[in-house]
Amino acid sequence: MKTEEILVTGGAGYIGSHAIVALCDAGYTPVVVDNFINSSSKALIRLEAIVGKPIQYYEFDVRDEEKLNDVFSRHNFSSVMHFSGLKAVSESVERPLEYYDNNVGGTFSLLKVMNKHDLRKLVFSSSATVYGDPEEVPIQEEAKRYVTNPYGKTKLIIEDLCFDLARNQKSLSDKKWQIALLRYFNPIGAHPTGFIGEDPKGIPNNLMPFILKVAIGELSELKVFGADYATEDGTGKRDYIHVMDLAEGHLAALDWIFKQNEGDNICEAFNLGTGKSTSVLDLLNSFVKYTGVKVAYSVAERRSGDIAECYADPSLARDSLNWKSKRSLKEMIEDGWKWQKANPSGFK
Ligand code: NAD
Ligand code: WQD
Repeated sequence: MKTEEILVTGGAGYIGSHAIVALCDAGYTPVVVDNFINSSSKALIRLEAIVGKPIQYYEFDVRDEEKLNDVFSRHNFSSVMHFSGLKAVSESVERPLEYYDNNVGGTFSLLKVMNKHDLRKLVFSSSATVYGDPEEVPIQEEAKRYVTNPYGKTKLIIEDLCFDLARNQKSLSDKKWQIALLRYFNPIGAHPTGFIGEDPKGIPNNLMPFILKVAIGELSELKVFGADYATEDGTGKRDYIHVMDLAEGHLAALDWIFKQNEGDNICEAFNLGTGKSTSVLDLLNSFVKYTGVKVAYSVAERRSGDIAECYADPSLARDSLNWKSKRSLKEMIEDGWKWQKANPSGFK
């Protein structure tokens, strides 16, 4: 069992909270920094019920370097998992300044404080969004990165910042940067207890949370954004991955980081996906099949900026991190539904 403390920024959010379960299961001690701009402190109370021990947290904005510095002085972190940031593509188009400020500014502050405290081990939440509309599927990590929306660009900028840090061979310090950039595909589902899950504010942007809101009766019908794509049934195809598989991918990335030589700079990107591609109608029909709940839908126009198909080649993560997804689409749907049914209004 490991007792090392791991700083988890954005740990009250959807993916961070599930990663905390995986961290605790492996014997780590997570310490959360979150300003709850898109989450609730109740998630941390629920987490405590799952992991059976208190979760230490600090409520502030990661851009507050003074407070961050203070937290680093109080603890002896062995690594950082950096989840905090804003994540809605359409909102990023409307409010680019906020996105650049929070995502890039927040990461910049974090990296500066890490550097000051001689801690250069980082797992960063990147996204498959960096691939834009891929030329080929399944997507490999060396595929061209190209994005047009501000949210995706913040991920590109942060990735490049990390690659540059790890290229700086002239660093005076003995402790170099060891960074894993995890490019998530489409996380869905929830912890099997149903105690924590995704709790979007307002009308969900993403498919699975929208389906759940229709199924629970909060929204009347799903709009299927386009049925004229060049896919088998005409609807968009994605690589949906159980959030607990994703959480375990973070542990694997941490192990990979700890295996590196402290004196070697390394920054590598890994796809975290299943390698399977599921259409909107496939997901919808599977939801009805596995839950027995009908979901009304109608076909609407394509959503601007959407692509036909995106799924991972996850073999690099398998070979280098010794990680692969284990959970089925059925488990993703059942666990997501269990969370939604038990918590119709999320953490409220
Ligand atoms: P989330 O919004 O549920 O969690 C983010 C957390 O960060 C929230 O608890 C929020 O309150 C906190 N936060 C935001 N800005 C902060 C700040 N300045 N200081 C402190 N805390 C702050 O999102 P998520 O789905 O858990 O995503 C986590 C990360 O993974 C994000 O960086 C996101 O861009 C990335 N990602 C998410 C997805 C997805 O589909 N959910 C896909 C790819 C990448
Ligand atoms: C999936 C499919 C839609 C909603 C987005 C971000 C990406 C990443 C994950 C963070 C598509 C269709 C959706 C609806 C629908 N986030 N759809 N009706 O677009 O793959 O990725 O979230 O990094 O950056 O772009 O996920 O769940 O929004 O859409 O028909 O109400 O469902 O057109 O084909 P997407 P999604």
